[in-house]
Amino acid sequence: MRVVLTLPWLLVACGGLPIKTVDGTEEQLIDGAVDAVFAPQVGSVVVLRDGNLSAVDGGAARSQSLIATGVGALHDAAPVGPAVLLATDGRLLTWTESGLAESPTGSLLGEAVTAVDAVAGRVALGTDSGVFLAHDGLVEQVLVEGDGALGEGRLDAQGVLWLATDDGALGWSAAEGVVAFDNTAVHDVAVSGDGTAWFATDGGLLRLRRSGAKRFDLPEPAVALHGTADGVWVVTAEHAWRVTGGNLEEVWVGGEPVVASGADRSGRLLLATNAEVRRISVGRPLVVQGLAAGDALAGPTRVRMLPTAADRVTDLSVTLDGAAVTLDADLALRVDPSALGAGEHELSATATWDDGVEDSVTLPFSSTVVAYATWTDDVLPLHQDRCAVCHQKDTATVLDGPEAWQSHFDAILAATTEGRMPLQGAPLEPIDLAVLAAWRDNGFPLE
Ligand code: HEC
Repeated sequence: MRVVLTLPWLLVACGGLPIKTVDGTEEQLIDGAVDAVFAPQVGSVVVLRDGNLSAVDGGAARSQSLIATGVGALHDAAPVGPAVLLATDGRLLTWTESGLAESPTGSLLGEAVTAVDAVAGRVALGTDSGVFLAHDGLVEQVLVEGDGALGEGRLDAQGVLWLATDDGALGWSAAEGVVAFDNTAVHDVAVSGDGTAWFATDGGLLRLRRSGAKRFDLPEPAVALHGTADGVWVVTAEHAWRVTGGNLEEVWVGGEPVVASGADRSGRLLLATNAEVRRISVGRPLVVQGLAAGDALAGPTRVRMLPTAADRVTDLSVTLDGAAVTLDADLALRVDPSALGAGEHELSATATWDDGVEDSVTLPFSSTVVAYATWTDDVLPLHQDRCAVCHQKDTATVLDGPEAWQSHFDAILAATTEGRMPLQGAPLEPIDLAVLAAWRDNGFPLE
């Protein structure tokens, strides 16, 4: 049964936010119109054009690779570990480095998914009949919506799943059940990096925190919101604004109607008009793909520099533990934990553009190196803990002992490294991946 509680939080109306105009860096990503644009992963943008789903590389060359053809619509995209879930017309697809596959969760659900989101090993799926949470191979319905009015669903940091509907915002959490704002149509919802939920309503922008809800007037009605680490992008019919630090910043004054929009994982805005797809950045971030601060690396990893406005970069210097490293033609390097040794390390990079602007990033990371691993001591406990429940005799991929593990080893390593397995569960820890690699490197010893 569904119980809707009206939020007890006080709604305070505020005037407008102070407006500032900020210089943005604009880059053309694609020439021509697209039907949808998403940037679910650092360094790649997914677009739908004439039924073709393609990934546009974030590097200077903007090369495109085809993911799928005959796709009617792309409703949403979300990263799940290193994989990306794509909600297309009628099919939920998992896209990884090794290609595109039908998501088993989509078949469990048996109906078209229009919204996807993922936080901490749980996947939220919106359909015409409600909202579902998938985790560890189970799918649970958490909200029932009969009218098919579900908009975008977003999970905030507290695990509250927020939805935009024609009758208001709906939220669900395991602790509190269903909470709702009534009486106002909500066009979009976004969650910023601090876990704050933002709603675009006819009356303006609504900000919801534990302490209460606040409404801010906007100069124009918002059509889309996109959360970033430090705020939220507000897209109106012909402008883009950013709310950050208590200010409303006008970043883009386009004059051309926005057809679709999205934000990438580095907080840059993607805007599709009838003529092109542009990427708008505040400042000129040097984006790093493949490594984030605090990562624990278990195997060789390709790390790539993706500076904004790459064609105007005059100098790019990278150091690893203080020593200068040379990048390949793709501005990438290979970081190998076993060559670096177990422990703490640091990658630093500085880009300089032709007008003297500089941006630097420093990424501390650790490397996990396992010297020796056996079936009995290391792999068997992992198998029993994380895989055995599903991979018994009656599944397509039977994993019932060391021989089966060895014969499926490449597929196992790929599926776990890419986060596809354990199915919709939390990805394996770097130490687990390092154990698997060591077991193989040592020749699959039993004892
Ligand atoms: C909640 C259920 C579940 C769990 C847990 C799970 N799997 Fe799977 N796995 C599946 C299903 C369903 C399939 C698809 C049918 C098949 O191939 O058996 C699959 C397929 C696979 C495949 C073959 C397809 C591919 O993607 O390469 C591999 C390899 C695999 N799993 C490895 C693992 C490993 C290793 C673990 C533990 C670390 C694991 N799985 C945990 C359900 C699960």
